[in-house]
Amino acid sequence: MRGLNGKVAVVAGGAGGIGTATSYRLADEGANVVVGDLDADAARAVANEIVAKGGAAIGVQFDIADEE
Ligand SMILES: NC(=O)c1ccc[n+]([C@@H]2O[C@H](COP(=O)([O-])OP(=O)(O)OC[C@H]3O[C@@H](n4cnc5c(N)ncnc54)[C@H](O)[C@@H]3O)[C@@H](O)[C@H]2O)c1
Repeated sequence: MRGLNGKVAVVAGGAGGIGTATSYRLADEGANVVVGDLDADAARAVANEIVAKGGAAIGVQFDIADEE
């Protein structure tokens, strides 16, 4: 199933655990995934793995607790 084709999904905490698994799942469903995390390098590594497997993703640094 690729029910999220054309959608953008933003995942907070995407560089670890549940967030990484969620990022992969969303990419499998066709979403363009923004893998966000406090750890920029780890977020980019997850995004790069998704892209290497044929998905669409970018890794970015953000703190989801920061309102700005
Ligand atoms: N793993 C489990 O089985 C499980 C079960 C129940 C509840 N939980 C809870 O779910 C949450 C996530 O668990 P996990 O195993 O995926 O943890 P994890 O530590 O593997 O991953 C959390 C990720 O979130 C990032 N992060 C933390 N604060 C952030 C912020 N403010 N902005 C952006 N990124 C941030 C961390 O850098 C890390 O990469 C935790 O609160 C955990 O207690 C986990």
